[in-house]
Amino acid sequence: MERADLLVTNASEVLTLDHGRPGPVTGEAMRDLCSVPGGAVAIGDGKVLAVGPAKDLAARYEAAETLDAGGNVVMPGFVDPHTHLVFPATREDEFEMRCLGKSYEEIAAAGGGIRNSARRMRRAKREDLVARARALRRSALLHGTTTIEAKSGYGLETEAEILSLEVAGEIDDRGDLVRTFLGAHEVPDEYRGDRDEYVRIVIEEMLPRVVEGGLATFCDVFCEEGVFSIEESRRILGAARDAGLAIKLHADELHGTGGAELAAELGAVSADHLIRASDAGIRAMAGAGVVATLLPGTSYFLGMKAFAPGRKMVEAGCAVAVATDCNPGSSMTENMQFVITTACLGYGFTPAEAITAATINAAHAVGMGDFVGSIAPGKRADLIVLDVPNPRLLAYHHGVNHVATVVHHGEVVR
Ligand code: NIG
Ligand code: FE
Repeated sequence: MERADLLVTNASEVLTLDHGRPGPVTGEAMRDLCSVPGGAVAIGDGKVLAVGPAKDLAARYEAAETLDAGGNVVMPGFVDPHTHLVFPATREDEFEMRCLGKSYEEIAAAGGGIRNSARRMRRAKREDLVARARALRRSALLHGTTTIEAKSGYGLETEAEILSLEVAGEIDDRGDLVRTFLGAHEVPDEYRGDRDEYVRIVIEEMLPRVVEGGLATFCDVFCEEGVFSIEESRRILGAARDAGLAIKLHADELHGTGGAELAAELGAVSADHLIRASDAGIRAMAGAGVVATLLPGTSYFLGMKAFAPGRKMVEAGCAVAVATDCNPGSSMTENMQFVITTACLGYGFTPAEAITAATINAAHAVGMGDFVGSIAPGKRADLIVLDVPNPRLLAYHHGVNHVATVVHHGEVVR
């Protein structure tokens, strides 16, 4: 007998998402969750040792501990590839204004939104930022998110942007948090009259500090009408790429400005939002291997009728991921299960397609596809036991937490 630290057994099925080839899952294959009915997972040293029929694994492994899945689904932990996890305060006052009819853009133009958060960020204490981010991270974990991305972008000045990335680093105990520098999230109050100067500061002052400190893997820009133009985005992201960072883009969220095309041109790892992406942009992303990271919870939370053309993207052969966009303005949730349901309703995804987008493809959207996102030998033992016997129920019975148990790095989280 071989030794294992943990044997997860008595599952109705283990959704492995292991297609046995590298790269994200595209097209028809997104409907295949690579299920092992009556499966079990053997775990050792925080990694997956083997997946297979429970009988076979029971005969092969002597496990120090057994976790009974109770006849329910076992699947990879969610990967949330787009969040703004570090922020100084919630903005429920703006939510109430939106309930009464003001739009997100009206509130932002009047000095609310991201600039509101930036003003508070600059007065925030490090320990308060850490406590808030840690609590949200913990809640995300208990909702099944085992790997998460986190952006800066509420500092909008050098020291506050650096602080934001340091805070994100501080809550990352075990390499489960991917950091993204988003100094170009908005033009702060003091540079409204001199945008060029702010772009210069992002490129010449912030970026070198981020790179020297090893504070981020990715650089992102909010490329949007009235925020950063295509030309400004190209300059910032080009400089980031030259400095060794990988590239992401908030693209074509509220208006179609050619963000998807720019992501393809720059060789971005992902382009995110994409509500207004053009057909040419979709083709360009598919051709360049850019992961389309869709944020259906944001369309929902902003009360938009428009959702990204997710179905069209799948048909065009684009790799599609989904994320929460967790932030205090446009998407105050850390729950990927809610995102799966809104992806089904907003894009016409099947539950299986949405689950593929929330696991293996999401892992590729943050450059972690070789380590997490599927249950495969050698990968991190990040998996969740649900309280439902089939994956359709995860999307269908919505608004509740279906995660019964989280296994993170092979350890059972209680
Ligand atoms: O991804 N789109 C830009 N940034 C965030 C919103 C940030 C905020 O409102 O605080 C987003 O939706
Ligand atoms: Fe965002």
